[in-house]
Amino acid sequence: MDGLKKQISRLICSQFDTLGIYPDELSGMFDATPDLKMGDFTLACFRLSKALRNSPQRIADQLCAALDGKIEGIKRIESVNGYLNFFVGDSEKLRQLDEMLSLGSGYGRNADGAGKTVCIDFSSPNIAKPFHIGHLGSTAIGNSIKRLYQFSGYKCVGINYLGDWGTQFGKLICAYKLWGEPEKIESDGVNELARIYKLFHERAEEDPSLNDKAREEFARLEAGDELNRSIWKKIRDISLDGKFMGVYRLLGVEFESFDGESFIAGRTGEVVDELKEKGLLEESDGAMVVRLDDFNMPPCIVLKADGSTIYATRDIASALYRKKTYNFDRSIYVTDAGQSLHFRQWFKVIGLMGYDWEDQLVHVPYGKISINGEKLATRTGNVVLLEDLFSEAIARVKKIIEEKNPDRENKDEIAKAVGVGAVIFNQLSAGRIKDVNFVWEDALNFDGNTGPYAQYTHARSRSVLERASVTGKINDVSFNAQENELFNLLSKFPEKVVAARESYEPSIITRYVLDVCQSFNRFYHDCPILKAEGDAKELRLRLCKVTAETLKNALWLIGLEAPEKI
Ligand code: ARG
Repeated sequence: MDGLKKQISRLICSQFDTLGIYPDELSGMFDATPDLKMGDFTLACFRLSKALRNSPQRIADQLCAALDGKIEGIKRIESVNGYLNFFVGDSEKLRQLDEMLSLGSGYGRNADGAGKTVCIDFSSPNIAKPFHIGHLGSTAIGNSIKRLYQFSGYKCVGINYLGDWGTQFGKLICAYKLWGEPEKIESDGVNELARIYKLFHERAEEDPSLNDKAREEFARLEAGDELNRSIWKKIRDISLDGKFMGVYRLLGVEFESFDGESFIAGRTGEVVDELKEKGLLEESDGAMVVRLDDFNMPPCIVLKADGSTIYATRDIASALYRKKTYNFDRSIYVTDAGQSLHFRQWFKVIGLMGYDWEDQLVHVPYGKISINGEKLATRTGNVVLLEDLFSEAIARVKKIIEEKNPDRENKDEIAKAVGVGAVIFNQLSAGRIKDVNFVWEDALNFDGNTGPYAQYTHARSRSVLERASVTGKINDVSFNAQENELFNLLSKFPEKVVAARESYEPSIITRYVLDVCQSFNRFYHDCPILKAEGDAKELRLRLCKVTAETLKNALWLIGLEAPEKI
């Protein structure tokens, strides 16, 4: 449709000298019609009435007279209440459909990012703590944003900025030295670490001096003590492998870097010096801060009273490091909305340091998650581990398949794809800033607005194509209402990709997937495909094939697999 809109825009611009709009700009001003009976797209002429000093209705009438019959591919133009409605001809639609078809799995991709790099900091858990459902948002949203950028040809650097530094490691080292059982560390590392970490907190309640010991151990670690360094490394490896990598593999989530807080901790000195040199640091209650009063924000603390660095110091240092290392065009951070102020503060500090790339830094916040209406509570230990959540999803789907389809091959693979997909789809269904409530029955409902429903619809389109394929020959077609609706939706895929990417909003794709599924299922129900004949069959097979490819790509963009059979 883009080509047509550009052509129309050029014609309109050449009609009016006083318009003051470029054709490219104008071609972005067309809207979808609320109902395809009113045409395939429309131009709201009130947008032009100021420049043309005329009423929308008069402009629409005038343009209608001037353009009708002059644009190849447009079969009719109507002027209605100041709107100019365009009806695309069937052969033009077929031409566009064939174009989508010939792009195959490349349909929807673009080259906006050629030569450009984005860094996406996501998931980024604190590794001493459990990997729980609260991390699902960052992991799923970040992964989808990364894929949206990849789909647009950007070079993507996925960064898992591990929380692998700080006093909790002092506690772990202390606990390890006091109570760690070497054989258990080797055989069952994650649980052994959890056991001694818990034990530490219990004992520290009775004996607060343990906390001082932990601080000492951390100070020794920071100073480069060899023993502590090796224990820290062991703890980090065990946690990463045992708690995190399994989930990432299951989800198909990949990172280009695991440089976390420990990596940057050694590089904060330079930043503190730079801030001092630039005269940005001020003392406040013993701490060193950058004042942000002019920007209506509390000061950004850089050094605590005891001289140690904090979260913000490390983020500033790592941003400088990432700029130098990757020379990003954009650097994105996906965390819960509770961290918004932190990011606004240190982004501003980067600007105050004189760097002109402050506006390349983007914080992408998201809402909270609850299960069956219950908020998660890390303190009481009432947490749902991601590992357990996904295992249960997979087990539940397996049970459904056993009941419905006991002879299905690859049951385990399908259960994995659908179980994981159900959880991810549920997380990405609503706008990301909204709180998410996870309810098993809703997420797994094959007839609801769910991942399983979308994957099932994709498999349905594949099963048609297994029985007949597009031959390439087609003479003359006319699109009926369902075919037209499906075609129109499919043609919107490329613009949805751009919209989702630019607003960091995977839910645009999730919503789109559901729209395509609903439209395809109506089409499938009302228009026989395999039983149709001649051109009608050819057209329907084409729609079916483009639906399959589009759904597969769209599902990939939100982190779901698209099994051929379910
Ligand atoms: N580790 C942090 C947490 O679990 C998230 C880190 C986000 N990334 C960053 N560069 N600050 O809350």
